[in-house]
Amino acid sequence: MRRVEFYRHSLNEDDVAAVGEVLRSIFLTTGPRAAAFERALAEYLGVQHVVGVSSCTSALYLSLRALGIGPGDEVITTPMTFIATSNTILHAGATPVFVDVEPQTGNIDVQLVERAMTPRTRAVIPVHLYGLMADMGCLREVCRRRNVAIIEDAAHAIEAERNGARPGQLGAAACFSFYATKNLTSGEGGAVATNDSAMAESLKRLRSHGMSKEAAGRYTEQYRHWDMVELGYKANLSDIQAALLLSQLARLDAQRARREAIARQYETAFAGLPGIEHPTVPPGATSARHLFTIWVPPDRRDQALSQLQENGIGVAVNYRAVHLLSYYRQNFWFRSGAFPNAERIGERTITLPLYPGMSDADVDQVIGAVSDLAVEWNRS
Ligand SMILES: Cc1ncc(COP(=O)(O)O)c(C=O)c1O
Repeated sequence: MRRVEFYRHSLNEDDVAAVGEVLRSIFLTTGPRAAAFERALAEYLGVQHVVGVSSCTSALYLSLRALGIGPGDEVITTPMTFIATSNTILHAGATPVFVDVEPQTGNIDVQLVERAMTPRTRAVIPVHLYGLMADMGCLREVCRRRNVAIIEDAAHAIEAERNGARPGQLGAAACFSFYATKNLTSGEGGAVATNDSAMAESLKRLRSHGMSKEAAGRYTEQYRHWDMVELGYKANLSDIQAALLLSQLARLDAQRARREAIARQYETAFAGLPGIEHPTVPPGATSARHLFTIWVPPDRRDQALSQLQENGIGVAVNYRAVHLLSYYRQNFWFRSGAFPNAERIGERTITLPLYPGMSDADVDQVIGAVSDLAVEWNRS
């Protein structure tokens, strides 16, 4: 049977050549390519600084650490996300405080954020779910009044914009993922964007054990002793990864345009199908269109997943609500019903293939398979 993979990367021969060039050079770890990529991404995003790191997980964690957030502090976030978001709050020793999401987008509900704030709240981590930025304008107002930092989880949203703002422009920091299935990828990798120079310096130290000098500085300048000035981590981005990322950056917007066209084809095709809904992109927003999800009746979801797979369609679930996963239930006593909008999305959601390399035949096959589901439900 003809298969439509859930995801295929769009790396090309230029990207392979860019990596080959690094492999033939002397510098493999964080060096000139990493610095060039950081400059190029900062320019693309319209921010002052980008610091390359090993993953979005380390980007989030190091951002919390750079802001001095730890035991005794509360960090507000959403349960409709990948576990990395809330796990990094736990790793920092702080307490994750979940608030529910908007039913139409799955993004954090900013009205609820203010109500969840206490004197211990130090930061909010909104997640720009599937590529749509959370309402950062409103969130910034709420956080400014309370002197609370915003760390954006922009793993899905590198090309996104909302009401004229990009990730990294309104928060203290925005964290990106270059994981294998992300819109910009080096297999693994991440970055933090910030307009705060002190934050960028702190992140650079924290990604390299808290050393006063990174490898590039140690190698290129005349030898001088380095010092360890704080307890950091090992979470830097290598020149091999950076070369691959830099090479893709120029075509990122063209690839997003293809994602947008496919997403709109899906939306048009599913508009009249009973039982098939999907999140919406509000006016004023450009979604990065990282993932396309449909919402089906909860009692049909798991069977629909199997049926789509049997028809050759790669599928995923992004996400079942984090607070209902075993570890969170057992350690924090979360119960069903605590965050009803997130739970409802978690029970209904199916992610369909969406990537620039999809052919028209691939898109038609996905639409056909989803339409078959709806027709079948209508008959039964
Ligand atoms: C919303 C979100 N946040 C964080 C992450 C973690 O990214 P990484 O795998 O680069 O650590 C992911 C990865 O899938 C994600 O989807």
